Amino acid sequence: MKVLGISGSMRAEGNTSILVRKIVDYIEAEGCDEFNTEYITLAGKKISPCIGCEKCRESKWCVLDDEWDDIAEKMMECDILILGSPTYYYDVNGQTKNFIDRTYSLFHDRKLAGKYAVVISVCADRGCERTLSTLEGFVNTHEFGYIGYVAGKGAGPGDVLKDKRAIEKSVEVAERILKLVSRTRRDSKRKQ
Ligand SMILES: Cc1cc2nc3c(=O)[nH]c(=O)nc-3n(C[C@H](O)[C@H](O)[C@H](O)COP(=O)(O)O)c2cc1C
Repeated sequence: MKVLGISGSMRAEGNTSILVRKIVDYIEAEGCDEFNTEYITLAGKKISPCIGCEKCRESKWCVLDDEWDDIAEKMMECDILILGSPTYYYDVNGQTKNFIDRTYSLFHDRKLAGKYAVVISVCADRGCERTLSTLEGFVNTHEFGYIGYVAGKGAGPGDVLKDKRAIEKSVEVAERILKLVSRTRRDSKRKQ
């Protein structure tokens, strides 16, 4: 069972990365050997915007050449995606939006359908809701199974650690993932 956490923040050690890693690390620590976890930050990665060329309708993969490919390949291999974004002007930041828009290339053949997802947003004060809506739009469009969300508050890097509710919610969501996986495993054993 592969769990992939992606932080879309350009701050490598920012608040979004803290919440995404909280879930990934909990699963790594509490999950059984069947779990394979990985964390990726989009900070410093070259991910250009989708140019709307529509070539991916034929190629079924984005034709632009940058660092999106490697991350998309890891996403294709995962079973559970944990995607987080900071809130910029009441919505996802540009880097996260670029990453999401480029997955249009995977949409034509519903290549992400059937995977599971968790979404995370962080804001200093207001706007987390729309960030979550945008992330949920990505999750719903691609037909991921939706596990849940975490919304955190914090301005400077590390401030989200003071948001006790968000930290607790991250653990709750991680627990939900562990339960979901053990239920799925039990169900498939029963069918055998
Ligand atoms: C360009 C920019 C726009 C922002 N817009 C908002 C906003 O609309 N609402 C808000 O509450 N915080 C806003 N913030 C604050 C960030 O959401 C906040 O600092 C968050 O913790 C950043 O997460 P990160 O550390 O993962 O990058 C903005 C920050 C920047 C740099």
